[in-house]
Amino acid sequence: VPTSVFRNADEASRAVALEIAHLIRYKQAAGQHVVLGLATGSSPKKVYGELIRLHREEGLSFRNVISFNLDEYYPMKPDAIQSYHRFMREQLFDHIDIQPENYHLPDGTLPLEDVRAFCEQYEQKIEALGGLDFQLLGIGRNGHIGFNEPGSHISSRTRLMTLDAVTRQDAGGDFGGIAKVPRRAITLGVRAIMNARRVVLIAWGEHKADIVKSAIEGPMTELVPASYLQTHQNAKFVVDEACASELT
Ligand code: F6R
Repeated sequence: VPTSVFRNADEASRAVALEIAHLIRYKQAAGQHVVLGLATGSSPKKVYGELIRLHREEGLSFRNVISFNLDEYYPMKPDAIQSYHRFMREQLFDHIDIQPENYHLPDGTLPLEDVRAFCEQYEQKIEALGGLDFQLLGIGRNGHIGFNEPGSHISSRTRLMTLDAVTRQDAGGDFGGIAKVPRRAITLGVRAIMNARRVVLIAWGEHKADIVKSAIEGPMTELVPASYLQTHQNAKFVVDEACASELT
């Protein structure tokens, strides 16, 4: 998989934000909408910060942007502190001119019996809009993308996923202890991620160096869902030097 190594997360984030901005402007010039797949977590914060700066200082408009987030905890109320709805509003949506009806996240408030139909509709909406033009990804220390945990099939659908122990441990800080981390999440499936026309996976720091090495240089395996990107035609890893330290 093509890999770009930057000195630090700031420089890398600026480059990723610029790629997204170019895509938005290119589509704007053609009078078209652009469909973005977005991630939460610590990794994309600086990318979103730079997109906000481009909006404020360089006139980048998001009026032609339609977005779909990867995942949301289940159950989860949209206004809860740990919700990904809230994260996206605070980190990006409330600071740009995206139209509120144009952003989508999985619904963590649905009754269990409605989740399956919701997931199907989520994928259908993406397809009806012509598919994802660009998917931004982070990577979990266990190799997950979205919340497609180890064991997820390459053609897995958007679904309710039981969270891995590593994932719940890493989320423990946000929830005040692992016991309070939800056991499940709704995640976009690997299939929908792989169908995106462009995929950029970002990872910063030494604590991601081992898993990034496995994803890029190891065998393609369901044990490391990010390794599926090895077969994507237009995927790229963007990492900082600390995260690239194990790469050969
Ligand atoms: C978040 C998501 C996850 C994270 C991953 C890395 O929407 O889908 O796969 O990208 O867990 O999280 P951070 O960036 O917090 O290290």
